Amino acid sequence: MDGRGLVRSVRVFGSVAGLRTVRAAWRQRRTDASALPPRGAERARVPGPAQGAEPEPGGGTVRFARSSLRVCVSAGGTVFWGWDGADPEPSYALAGAAPEPDPRAVLEPDTDGGWRVVSERVTVAVSRHGAVEIRTPGGVMLRRDLPPRWWEPVGGGPARWAQRAEVPADARFFGLGGRSAGPRLRDGSYRLWNTDPGGRFGPGDDPLYITMPVQFVVADAGTHLAFHDNSWDGRVTLAEGEEGAGSGHDRPGTGEVRMEGGPLRCWVIVGTPARVLHNWAALTGAPALPPAWALGPQHARWGFGSAAEVRRVVAGYRERGLPLSAVHLDIDHYDGHRVFTVDRERFPDLPGLAEELREQGVRLVSIVDPAVAAEPGNVLYEEGRAAGAFVRDARGEEVRGVVWPGDCAFPDFTDPAVREWWGGLYEERLRQGFSGIWHDMNEPVSFAAFGDPTLPRSARHCLDGRGGDHREAHNVYGLLMARAGYDGLRRLRPGERPFLFTRAGWAGMQRYGGTWSGDVATGWPGLRASLALVLGLGLCGVPYSGPDVGGFDGSPSPELFLRWFQLGAWLPLFRTHAALDAGRREPWEFGPEVLEHARVALAERERLQPYFVTLSRLARMTGAPYVRPVWWGTPEDRVLRECEDAFLLGDALLVAPVLHRGSDRRAVRLPRGRWYDTATGEAYEGPGQVLLDAPLARVPVLARAGAVVPVRGEDGELALEVWAPEAGRTGGGLVVRDTGDGWEPAEIERYQSRRVDGRVVVERVTDEGPVEPGLPVRVRGV
Ligand code: GLC
Repeated sequence: MDGRGLVRSVRVFGSVAGLRTVRAAWRQRRTDASALPPRGAERARVPGPAQGAEPEPGGGTVRFARSSLRVCVSAGGTVFWGWDGADPEPSYALAGAAPEPDPRAVLEPDTDGGWRVVSERVTVAVSRHGAVEIRTPGGVMLRRDLPPRWWEPVGGGPARWAQRAEVPADARFFGLGGRSAGPRLRDGSYRLWNTDPGGRFGPGDDPLYITMPVQFVVADAGTHLAFHDNSWDGRVTLAEGEEGAGSGHDRPGTGEVRMEGGPLRCWVIVGTPARVLHNWAALTGAPALPPAWALGPQHARWGFGSAAEVRRVVAGYRERGLPLSAVHLDIDHYDGHRVFTVDRERFPDLPGLAEELREQGVRLVSIVDPAVAAEPGNVLYEEGRAAGAFVRDARGEEVRGVVWPGDCAFPDFTDPAVREWWGGLYEERLRQGFSGIWHDMNEPVSFAAFGDPTLPRSARHCLDGRGGDHREAHNVYGLLMARAGYDGLRRLRPGERPFLFTRAGWAGMQRYGGTWSGDVATGWPGLRASLALVLGLGLCGVPYSGPDVGGFDGSPSPELFLRWFQLGAWLPLFRTHAALDAGRREPWEFGPEVLEHARVALAERERLQPYFVTLSRLARMTGAPYVRPVWWGTPEDRVLRECEDAFLLGDALLVAPVLHRGSDRRAVRLPRGRWYDTATGEAYEGPGQVLLDAPLARVPVLARAGAVVPVRGEDGELALEVWAPEAGRTGGGLVVRDTGDGWEPAEIERYQSRRVDGRVVVERVTDEGPVEPGLPVRVRGV
């Protein structure tokens, strides 16, 4: 951080607050200087040679001269390995207990003094010096983690460690949380430290709000996910390999993980992309299911100003016949920016406003920031202080930071009692009439004129009774705030599924909800970064996200706004939002042409609402993100692996947004099979590249031959849109109907399409065999 926090707070609050951030930065530096002395002398250690091994369920423990390695393959083929006695638990990422070991996995001696665990789905070979190789059952190498190295402070304290992994030369890296330069992660070093870039970010800014030690690796040999379950500050340095590099030999790709402390343990999941994410969801939790209304168009704004302005904006949508499902209120509806309060002058009757909007089909969503104004008279602060809820420093003093309301204290969400207390506070939000919650500033942020805009690294945390400091707690702060909010909402309103999304998070955050881009810079690079974030997060198991449509700051040109809107309309969270001093984002503010094209995008989003509902349900049931890279079904297609400017929406659609100024045509890479341009009905054969029209009115969207897509028919009822299968082939699709905002289970309906004598036949597949679909069917592409 380079003083952007200072610039921002001066802009928003004036120079008094700006000075506060200077003070806060000094305070943080002082706190850490006394509590975290420099590391001093360190002793380096490597495992040394293997000396023996004991079998255990799912694998066993290999003893080395100076460490030990536990390997356990679970029944689903997920591999755990941990050095130095590291176990799967405790972990903030895991959804529950670690998976059951595979009873049939066996530990056996390998050639040259190593060991290996053989199972049906995967082989784990441990070399004599402690390299861990993950192989397919056919013996092909997917990943080789070389022996680690530790540095232990002579005077005691957490050991740093580093470990390098090799992957096939053709492998491509994805993941690591939300990375603006992705989705494919180029050679470089990526920090693991959730960070508010301060004001706005573009593709060059890294790290951002959500970092995760999750590598999603795609190679000809197969796909795998490697998760280093360790929340400490760290870095991952990636370098793609090269085939036939030196004297015809492949140079493998490498990924080096370096951590400032914490356990050295890793989960590796292998299989197809769908299988990998399925097992990842089994390990870290099924994605929370948003209520159907959260799949509709939403409008946010920092600086709505008053209830009257909210009404005006909602009326603007209504009068123009534009659908709108939610409006988000930002910090300006608070009293003095204090969380869980309302400015009664500007919002005199929030419950009344909520009810009035609700009658028009519009919900209210509230921002919730973690920092609590530390001032006498603030009831929330006094309550939290009395309960010992706030983070303290090594001397036992409450840690102070600076956020929107001024000097603040920070709830310690790593304390179960604090989570419970905080979760109860959402009762006030529900009473005000809010239907959903938007967590912000939870990296956590404390504005600092210089240094790291967060809490001191030495700040103490409960860590669920284990005790520790901010170096370990920082990255899970947002995750645990989400847990507190989600659990609180479930207790307070048990009949409805919570709608929650959070700016910061970590592995497993999908259990509680989704996320959004954060303050993406207005500009074409920001538009591209928006898509990178959604795709990358999806591969880390977080399927529900979307950008600030139009970008956070400044004023987009009409063309840029429209292209952003057209992208957003195909992403799970479809929300316009902007900063206090930014230009307008209502679709009618950009002239009649943009309005008409935005209307088309909105109508298409509404028409596809049943498809979005289906995708949200499937994400929960299978872990598969709604928005997938184009190589999802064919990861062996190397050309597709390089494609970052298009995506699959579920199985049926391929969306090719316009991401560059002035384009009215664009090249689209097709996966194998037949694809129909949904605008023209024209058929194209993949694999290959086609050039498609992309006039201002729309972006190219293709449908897979054979696809059965649930849509809203003319009468608003559920209908099936079916794209003709190729001759001699069948197709199909799944439909999961909305069962309301509660917890009623939903059923997966399976439909198939085929060609009989040139005619397209659609049937529902049941246990008793195929039956009439029982829904209106519209066949296209014939
Ligand atoms: C942060 C959020 C942004 C919000 C602003 C004010 O910058 O990322 O979405 O509008 O804070 O609350």
